[in-house]
Amino acid sequence: MPAKKKNTHKPWRKAVQEALRHATDAEALARFGKRRPAYNYRWEHVTAVVTLAVKLAELTGADRDVVEAAAWLHDVRKEAKDKHPREGAKFARKFLPETDFPPDKIERVAQAIEDHMGLWRDKPLTRLESQVLWDADKLAKLGLTAVFHRVGDVLAKGKPMTTANLMKNGRDAAWQANTVASMHTEPAQRAAIARFQAYNKLWDALAGELNGDDLL
Ligand SMILES: [Fe+2]
Ligand SMILES: [Fe+2]
Repeated sequence: MPAKKKNTHKPWRKAVQEALRHATDAEALARFGKRRPAYNYRWEHVTAVVTLAVKLAELTGADRDVVEAAAWLHDVRKEAKDKHPREGAKFARKFLPETDFPPDKIERVAQAIEDHMGLWRDKPLTRLESQVLWDADKLAKLGLTAVFHRVGDVLAKGKPMTTANLMKNGRDAAWQANTVASMHTEPAQRAAIARFQAYNKLWDALAGELNGDDLL
């Protein structure tokens, strides 16, 4: 009797997480000289993007599989800097066929990854899955999430740091207004406005406390 052909395709959800873990370990090794630094910004960022992207997919009717896989893989080639969306798309086209990810959806994953460039957009994206990934990626750079992610990343460098410098660094983010204005989907537009306000309010409140403005 001929041996039953085994399906060797890996479960895709596990595979994309492993791919990201591998990429974030390599990025940390290059930046900090160790795979597991005190704080891994990239891992924190991408896992936040995945959660937001899946939620946005549910709210907008975007394809969940496409959005989820694209979110896990969107920064997998971050070392390619400005070319990382295109390189990430290439990675997805090669990597996903080795998994059990639906083959007919792979190109849409690659397109969403390729489209995620830029902190703001002059021309809105047109594909829904690209819009959702873009919005989720940028939402994760706004609000209190951004505060914790930036502070964690700065402290992970292990260089002397003061609260005043953290504040200066945090407030130096004029691009955020453009990012908020570039959101595509309605739920992300609402969340972006609220996150932007919370972000500015937090730094204002901190400055007030440090100045003793609350001592009346
Ligand atoms: Fe990116
Ligand atoms: Fe990202």
